[in-house]
Amino acid sequence: KQQRRLIAVSNRLPIAVDRDDQGQWQLTAGAGGLVTALAPVLKHHQGMWIGWPGCGEEAPLDSLLEGFADKQGYSLATVPLSQEEVREYYEGFSNMTLWPLFHDLLGHCQFNPDHWRTYVEVNRRFADVTAGTVGDNDLIWVQDYQLTLMGVRLRELKVKNPLAFFLHIPFPAPDMFRRLPWKNEIMQGLLSYDLVGFQTLRDRRNFVQCVREMIPNMKADIRRRTSTLHEDGRSVKVGHFPISIDFNEFNRQARSKEVADAAWYLHEKLSRRQLVLGVDRLDYTKGIPERILAFERLLEKYPELHRNITLLQVVVPSRTQVPEYQKLKEELDQLAGRINAQYGEPGWVPIHYIFRSLPREQLLAHYRAAEIALITPLRDGMNLVAKEYCAASVDGNGVLILSEFAGAAEQLGRAALLVNPYDIDGTADAIHRAYHMGAEERRDRMRRLRASVQRNNVHRWVRHFIDSL
Ligand code: UDP
Ligand code: G6P
Repeated sequence: KQQRRLIAVSNRLPIAVDRDDQGQWQLTAGAGGLVTALAPVLKHHQGMWIGWPGCGEEAPLDSLLEGFADKQGYSLATVPLSQEEVREYYEGFSNMTLWPLFHDLLGHCQFNPDHWRTYVEVNRRFADVTAGTVGDNDLIWVQDYQLTLMGVRLRELKVKNPLAFFLHIPFPAPDMFRRLPWKNEIMQGLLSYDLVGFQTLRDRRNFVQCVREMIPNMKADIRRRTSTLHEDGRSVKVGHFPISIDFNEFNRQARSKEVADAAWYLHEKLSRRQLVLGVDRLDYTKGIPERILAFERLLEKYPELHRNITLLQVVVPSRTQVPEYQKLKEELDQLAGRINAQYGEPGWVPIHYIFRSLPREQLLAHYRAAEIALITPLRDGMNLVAKEYCAASVDGNGVLILSEFAGAAEQLGRAALLVNPYDIDGTADAIHRAYHMGAEERRDRMRRLRASVQRNNVHRWVRHFIDSL
């Protein structure tokens, strides 16, 4: 069988073009799980990645991106967006409607018809660019909620290539999905692909449940690995494929001397002090305030931990033009300040809070240095930080505390300490338990976690997905 070339299409590319403080154009790394997972895949398949370069037509893209393909081993095609399109399609419909709705946070949703119209237009443009660049033997693989409708336009354009879609975020239950005024269009968009992939069995079931309620005529042939939906001669496969990371790469880098040294410097080697680490994009789905409150509750409940435990919370700036994200930033600043003022002592700051993105080496050093990772999203498609922490825990004694509402809990739940992030007291107790966990139990749990991530790595994810087509 001849190998197909992989064309990945996503809103976010691994790099973004923007202006620095002096107004000069610069390239910055794209943040988030989609980029982390796809970058090694594209490298390996030497395909093409199509997406928004973070800017409009005004940037000198050709010269900025010169040499990228040679260095990365795959090519890029860009879909520049105007400022209005960014506001309505990206910040608006994608991140003020679909994002909160699909994460079950209806209170954060806006339903704005102008945003919807621009979302439709921009999806068409992505499809037009893609249709203009594909060859006969290419597999077109559309990524994530920003681009659900691309398939409809690609069919209109009579593109004959196999069309696949993967949703990186959760798919909601019917009662939630029904609130969306454009639910029929989004559903028809998803059903226009040959294969639709979800992160977890729960997401896939929610989707099939929505199809049953909305399109009673559609027949569903439910199988363990992939189900098939049929109607009027058209058929769509549906499966769940938990995304992952390049384990070997994280493991290798975490063992490097540079990372080991940086980890050593990070840790104030006080004999009993343990480091609790949180790493998240600034996002209300990540449960960061709830986590800080749980840490406060821990200090209140277990005074013997004062001076012996520190929370290091890394927050990566994200979607900074969206008001809900700005509000969250203010809330976090206040919360950390208040708790440090109440509990801090000379020589001990309870909460270290960093608001910027970290280079890979520093990130790995944080993972390696932390005795405990505290990953407590209210809802998350997968959460790759949890998997990265395991891959980088090369000393084998880190404890993973994980929200039961992260997709990753389906695979890692048995060896992690699972918590309900809304249960502040329960989360505080889990931190207390992790702090006191004996060396043997720590090593046993981490060994199982690492084995799971190593086996279910991102290359296997791609293989499973493509094999299902
Ligand atoms: N990450 C990043 N910059 C940083 C810190 C982390 O790009 O400064 C990455 C991290 O390595 C991980 C991703 O952001 O791969 C977060 O992915 P996750 O699935 O946990 O959540 P998402 O941000 O996609 O919702
Ligand atoms: C999540 C989404 C991705 C997105 C990433 C970062 O992982 O599933 O589609 O790229 O967050 O968000 P941003 O808005 O910066 O692309």
